[in-house]
Formats: sequence, structure tokens, C-alpha cells
Amino acid sequence: MKRFDKHIFICENKREENHPRGSCGTKNSSELTEKFKSRLKELGLNSMIRTNKAGCLDACEFGPTIVVYPEQTWYGGVKPEDIDEIINEHLINGRPVERLLIKDKRFNRDGE
Ligand code: FES
Repeated sequence: MKRFDKHIFICENKREENHPRGSCGTKNSSELTEKFKSRLKELGLNSMIRTNKAGCLDACEFGPTIVVYPEQTWYGGVKPEDIDEIINEHLINGRPVERLLIKDKRFNRDGE
């Protein structure tokens, strides 16, 4: 029996402000973690979908970056106002939110 159906990993890595790679933590990614946790709890989904803060996911230039497992769907530039759409469309209805997908061949490679 599975413990969780899905995991959402949210990069909270924080580099110094002028670091050339930037970092998700300096773009307020911790707000994303808190909002995912609270919305999933409100919806009664937190026992099936686990939200975890993560260190660097090596997609810094696309941050704030999140990845959803087991399907390995990568989202970039995620804002708190995008979270309800990700929950409703992707996590509940299984339709990834196209406009937020990282458009880079190293990620989201299903179409190859
Ligand atoms: S700092 Fe977020 S992916 Fe590297």
C-alpha cells in the first residue's frame, strides 16, 4: 500500500542576492510551500499528497521551481496565485498546467 500518491517538492534553496544562478528561496518559494500545505489540508488531500520543501533542484534559472512525483512534472516561475490551478487541474484532475511547465528538454521530456 502506498503511503502517498504524490509528492510536491518545492525548492527553497537560498543563495546570496547577487549570485549568478539566482535561487528560488530569494523569490519567496517558502510562500509556495506554505500555501500548498494549507490548501491541500483545507481540501482534505494532505494525507494523499505530500508537500516537501527541497534544496536546490538544479533548475535555478527557472525558479521558483517545483516538481511533482511520481510523474516528474516540472514547473517554473510558480507564484502563489498559481497554486489553486495546479491543485485543481494537475493534482486532482491529472492535467498538467501547460503554461507553467518548464520548457527545456532537460525537463518534461515526455514529448520526445
Ligand atoms: S535554487 Fe531552486 S532549483 Fe536551484
